[in-house]
Amino acid sequence: MSAKRETILSGIRPTGRLHYGNYFGAVRHFLRLQEEDRATCYYFIADYHALTTVTDRQDLYGNTLEMLRTYVACGLDPRKSVIYRQSDLPCTAELSLLLGMITNIGLLERGTTYKDKLSKLREDPKAEGNPLSYGLLGYPVLMAADILIVKADIVPVGEDQRQHLEMAIDLATRFNSRFGETFHVPRPISRDALRLPGLDGAAKMGKSDHNTLDLLDDPATVLKKIKAVPTTTEPAPLDTDSTDADTVIPKMPAGVGVLYRLLDLLAPREVFLEFLEEYRKGGKFYGNLKKAAAEHCSKFNDPIIARYNDPANSAAAVEEFLRENARRVTPVALETVEAVRAAMGIGHSLYRA
Ligand code: TYM
Repeated sequence: MSAKRETILSGIRPTGRLHYGNYFGAVRHFLRLQEEDRATCYYFIADYHALTTVTDRQDLYGNTLEMLRTYVACGLDPRKSVIYRQSDLPCTAELSLLLGMITNIGLLERGTTYKDKLSKLREDPKAEGNPLSYGLLGYPVLMAADILIVKADIVPVGEDQRQHLEMAIDLATRFNSRFGETFHVPRPISRDALRLPGLDGAAKMGKSDHNTLDLLDDPATVLKKIKAVPTTTEPAPLDTDSTDADTVIPKMPAGVGVLYRLLDLLAPREVFLEFLEEYRKGGKFYGNLKKAAAEHCSKFNDPIIARYNDPANSAAAVEEFLRENARRVTPVALETVEAVRAAMGIGHSLYRA
């Protein structure tokens, strides 16, 4: 007998363009899981979540369509995976409200995203927009709603989302013990979760830190960005003979480490080993290393850019599959919301079909 089909869910905020952190932390796992075809995959664009950083009028809808065209360009297939827009599933907001009723504020105040914003605001009290909104504090509750609403087993995300997933697991477990088994509890983050450093050598590549390499960057932009990666003239000794990327890269100066990480992710193994040899020898090889890293990145981006610009991959085509896929996910989500309403005692919605 075949094993039960599992459920996968993950989302990305429509921040404009997909960067390498998004791709290697999340999207490459979406693709693998889609192709393995052992699970139902739900991949969405988290446009509600993006509203926590809204500063002024901005074209979130346009950004969402662009991100979805990039999803398709990467190989995500809206017929194989259910690709949708978070706000096309408004019952997620209802589930978030219901979950909010049992969420302790202390738990949310320990959220790293919230704490980071709070400390940044203390440094710069005149920061733009409303950085400390109720929505930001409740961000992990909405994320838990996204995950629990489709009864996800696996949530492929980068390392930076570990805490959010743990909160979702915690909320589901707490709900079940209080109101009876209602939620399916997802599994914790996998061991291979990645945190890709920024091109400036910062611990994390991220849009708001302006240190990203993007999937749609053309060769000139890639080269310019990679040339600007900070490298020291004297490499620090590695004090190990290991050739394992995860062992040696953390021993390198931050900027240099990013370049090796890019080679590790994109180049054939021999190229990584060749440059590791160079590193051990010392001397002036950073120019060549940057050239090689830039070449491999552009080679990787080329077909994605071509598919992004394919006339078949239009905004209109995206809108069409969005409509179709909202219809596929809605009954699954409503079933969960109705079960939660029943468990909490308010009963079924009388007007919902
Ligand atoms: P977001 O939009 O910040 O990032 C989307 C995905 O990209 C991963 N990622 C990284 N991985 C490795 N290294 C990096 N430098 C890096 N930067 C980003 C993130 O881990 C994530 O997997 N809260 C989520 C969106 C979300 C969601 C969800 C995810 C909303 N609801 C439910 C999963 C399930 C976010 O802001 O991701």
